[in-house]
Amino acid sequence: MTSEKREPGAPKATGMRQGLATYGDAGFSLFLRKAFIKAGGYSDDALDRPIVGITNTFSDYNPCHGNVPDLIEAVKRGVMLAGALPMVFPTVSIHESFSHPTSMFLRNLMSIDTEEMIRAQPMDSVVLIGGCDKTLPAQLMAAASADRPAVVLPVGPMLVGHFKGEVLGACTDCRRLWGQYRAGTFSAEDIEKVSERLAPTKGTCMVMGTASTMGCIVETLGMGLPGSGSIPATHSDRLRVAEATGRLAAELAVKHGPKPSEIMTEGAFRNALVVLQAIGGSTNALVHLTAVARRLGIALSLEEFDLIGRKVPVLVDLKPSGDHYMEHFHWAGGNSRLMRELRNHLDERCPTISGRILKEVIDAAEMVPDQTVIRTPANPIKPTGGMAVLRGNLAPRGAVIKHAAASPNLLTHTGRAVVFDSLEDLAQRGDDPALDVEPDDILVLRNAGPKGAPGMPEAGSFPIPMKLARAGVKDMIRISDARMSGTAFGTIVLHVAPEAAVGGPLALVRTGDRISLDVPKRSLELLVGEAELEQRRKSWQPPAPPADSGRGYAGLFQKEVLQADQGVDFDFLGPARP
Ligand code: FES
Repeated sequence: MTSEKREPGAPKATGMRQGLATYGDAGFSLFLRKAFIKAGGYSDDALDRPIVGITNTFSDYNPCHGNVPDLIEAVKRGVMLAGALPMVFPTVSIHESFSHPTSMFLRNLMSIDTEEMIRAQPMDSVVLIGGCDKTLPAQLMAAASADRPAVVLPVGPMLVGHFKGEVLGACTDCRRLWGQYRAGTFSAEDIEKVSERLAPTKGTCMVMGTASTMGCIVETLGMGLPGSGSIPATHSDRLRVAEATGRLAAELAVKHGPKPSEIMTEGAFRNALVVLQAIGGSTNALVHLTAVARRLGIALSLEEFDLIGRKVPVLVDLKPSGDHYMEHFHWAGGNSRLMRELRNHLDERCPTISGRILKEVIDAAEMVPDQTVIRTPANPIKPTGGMAVLRGNLAPRGAVIKHAAASPNLLTHTGRAVVFDSLEDLAQRGDDPALDVEPDDILVLRNAGPKGAPGMPEAGSFPIPMKLARAGVKDMIRISDARMSGTAFGTIVLHVAPEAAVGGPLALVRTGDRISLDVPKRSLELLVGEAELEQRRKSWQPPAPPADSGRGYAGLFQKEVLQADQGVDFDFLGPARP
């Protein structure tokens, strides 16, 4: 490897020669880089190859990513078989249960870390290995902003668990059985045993939660190879798709493209919204897609998403809205087969990272006879999509409900509000036997949004008050500015925007007010006169800022985070300006 002076108009530096550290002498920078990297035993031949960066998101704190070391080895094999040089580098890794205060608080941090390390280090393309809920969104956001050729490789879903003859899935059954335990119908001994069975292998939650939803979306956007979103984490096919991903990334490195901005087009995002509705996917994915699209200067419309939902049926029979799990979805043909059933709603001309257009991916879908997991439009799980967008004086900038997982009898309901001011308030009073609450009431939780909590935790599916749970009440309308886990179910109105902490109407609700929810009409109304609301608005005081938010990342978060309808991204991370 020799130092290379770039004349004006000469081709852009590639491989080890790109992105040199600045010492004021490019030749010295390259010499120094060479000297240090040779400590790793690399030959000049290796160092002259195109470079494929590979993110390492393995962490002892992230069991969902337990197979990442094996995937990295398989990706490296693919890269080297294609004649390029793989370079593995660490990034932030986020697991749902090990992220205080909440994983969403850290998504933007991971996106910044990933973007900047792609930019800072010499690589001609990058393989992004992720899976646990916030990681694939963060990596897509980073890929969009860095705009270097990239392939996404999900880690894949876990296999199902078993307990006393019942099939278990994380984390739909975590919540269901915990609810039974709270209600006193499931023993302490059994709940302890179940904790060993709910997540029985490496990989991501195997219901159609956020991780599985994002796996399908990665494929639909065209950013990952077909099947990569659903092959079980522990199956040998996953290593083969990892190897193929490495080969593909090496080709992208040689060709210098296509770039993420050429794959994630408006049409690709619209296709992703279609699939999101048809899988009865996680509500979180709407926030994440909004954030990824925003990075590319594309504004996703909540109205269009709702319109898609009125036309596109739910076709996938997976928990939490159906009966099966991700491994069954995969062996039924996976996302390609699903898209085949949806092709009337999709823009099949969209390019994919594999070089094929979406139509070719769909044409190659495996047709599994007699499978029942992916239905046809003539025999859907539900005739319309899984989610709806609500508007009204309580949610002027929108709110979302996953009606596919809600109680049908509550989708049109007017009731008395019972308000909890914060998560702390909910924790203190929610289970108080003296709490004045009836089954027909509407529970309101506020100050749990992007700024309020902070990080918009997955608290929207908060538990039914203990005294009602013990009396057998299984579902109530719950409204909040929080999110909910994609694995949860219930009649839950989420992402109310603007949030209460910035003075949104949710801040003005009082216990005893009447609230009307009408999902068929897409409305969410606080039945209080405007004059009274104006009085309340005048006397409203913003809540105290969250603890420790005066400095550091928490301070940055408070200053920059946007509302749910803008993807909860940071304001300053919008599209690159010319
Ligand atoms: Fe990692 Fe569910 S906790 S995907």
